[in-house]
Amino acid sequence: MDGNGRWARRRFMPRVAGHRKGVEAVRAVVSRCAERGVGYLTLFAFSSENWRRPAEEVNFLMQLFVRALEEEVARLHENNIRLRVVGDLSRFEPRLIDLIRNGEALTAGNSGLNLTIAANYGGRWDIMQAFERMLQAHPEQRSGFAEADLAQHLAMSYAPEPDLFIRTGGEQRISNFLLWQLAYTELYFTDSLWPEFNGAAIDTAIESFQQRERRFGRTSEQVQAAAAAELGAVGRHA
Ligand code: IPE
Ligand code: MG
Repeated sequence: MDGNGRWARRRFMPRVAGHRKGVEAVRAVVSRCAERGVGYLTLFAFSSENWRRPAEEVNFLMQLFVRALEEEVARLHENNIRLRVVGDLSRFEPRLIDLIRNGEALTAGNSGLNLTIAANYGGRWDIMQAFERMLQAHPEQRSGFAEADLAQHLAMSYAPEPDLFIRTGGEQRISNFLLWQLAYTELYFTDSLWPEFNGAAIDTAIESFQQRERRFGRTSEQVQAAAAAELGAVGRHA
């Protein structure tokens, strides 16, 4: 979610006004994804590098996070949405950690959209913490690990690898998001600033995703033959 500050500056408002407006975009996007039956939506709210911002802006973001949790969790729950927060929470104030844990516990039984907020998250941090936990789980082993041995310790091990990555705000980079999991994810970059992103913008991004051919290393001919065979199988079972 990028472009809050620029959205505000263009309107001669303080950057934090863009963050406040950004929460409205979050609400719109969550509800559109829930309506569409998206299984997993993960929002990169605060990276491990964002602590480098001016203290007032960091404080504002933390207060905004607290307020959003206070105000939105009940509605998430009513809509059968399951909330999780991933990242290194140890630097957050106890009030925020409590709100997170309570929101997660309240919504733990929900079966609709899986909403994850990445907060004080970094892809490299995630790989390193998974690596340490993998070693702790196999104290005797020095080599011969499989990818799955590590992947099961990643912060989002409960979720499949993402199909689609969306970055708003015109920048075309990953910025230390889900590094391990993005290996085969379709990347979508848009100049829209996050506060102006909404349900229609999600639809446009998903349309773009649906145009793409995902080959996972194979040739286009192989992919098309497999799709045709699957259609045939569906036809025979119908
Ligand atoms: C994204 O908007 C919000 C957070 C990282 C918390 P920015 O604050 O990065 O907005 P720009 O990039 O300065 O416009
Ligand atoms: Mg930015």
